[in-house]
Amino acid sequence: MSGEIIVSTWSFGRRGHDAAWGALVDGGSSLDAVEKVCRVAEDDPEIDSVGWGGRPDRDGRMTLDGCIMLDPRQCGSVACVERHRHPVSMARQVMERTDHVMLVGPLADDFANACGMPEEPLLAPSARAAFDARQVGDGGAGGAGAPPIDSPSGALFPDEQRWRHHDTIGTLAIDGRGVLAGACSTSGMAWKVPGRVGDSPIIGHGLYVRPQVGAATGTGTGELVMGECGSFLAVERMAMGDSPTEACVHVLKRILDAGPIESHETVAMLALREDGVWGSASIRPGYRTSVRRHDQDEALEPHVVLLER
Ligand code: GLY
Repeated sequence: MSGEIIVSTWSFGRRGHDAAWGALVDGGSSLDAVEKVCRVAEDDPEIDSVGWGGRPDRDGRMTLDGCIMLDPRQCGSVACVERHRHPVSMARQVMERTDHVMLVGPLADDFANACGMPEEPLLAPSARAAFDARQVGDGGAGGAGAPPIDSPSGALFPDEQRWRHHDTIGTLAIDGRGVLAGACSTSGMAWKVPGRVGDSPIIGHGLYVRPQVGAATGTGTGELVMGECGSFLAVERMAMGDSPTEACVHVLKRILDAGPIESHETVAMLALREDGVWGSASIRPGYRTSVRRHDQDEALEPHVVLLER
């Protein structure tokens, strides 16, 4: 299998695919494509787990995380960003303009200012309303919880009273020159303890790319992914001969083998091999993968789901 491809977590990934595909097939880079896909999600107030439409922390403050990667020597990341709407682009600036991999907190925002990136409001009206509703209700972090359910609207958590939000746009692409790239962006877990950072901006956890092998990304409860170095592990498994789907399943089984998970917790993994073969798996139903290639533009159920509900 060959040719350009973009795969992203969740149905809302298709919105970014629509925006990125034309340039990609016109000779554009996979790096530009994955950045674009994440930027579209970061800008969309309907998407309730990424960007300014996501859910804030316990105190109503939105903090965003993101990363981008071409290979182990070319990666960038930011976490706990509070004044800029596009952590993926900040991460790219870290990768391209510094000798470092990761910047965090207000000093990452200062770096973005120095790069000429505009400050923007980070709490969309829908996010503000969700926070206000939580103040008068009993939902959120103390509730019994349910895992996210994919929806074309971009809202993974339609019932504000039942969950702890946590999800991610993770996107992987191959361009016409065969170059792999990946990126990730999230508002993290809703109502999180201020300062909490999950897997998404951590290279090897929420995203990993090894050019001669493949790339992987994860979505779901970041703490579970971080316990297994999920994306690194998936790519290592592909290097050892696993198919992309087998690699994803391996990571998820390791998570389940480590101990019980709560009812609202889940993880889905997505892997793309360097030859364009991809696979996905999810601990629970509800997750979908968006796929764009020359003969395909759709959101698909994961190849494997480990639990019935
Ligand atoms: N997977 C996103 C997060 O846990 O922050």
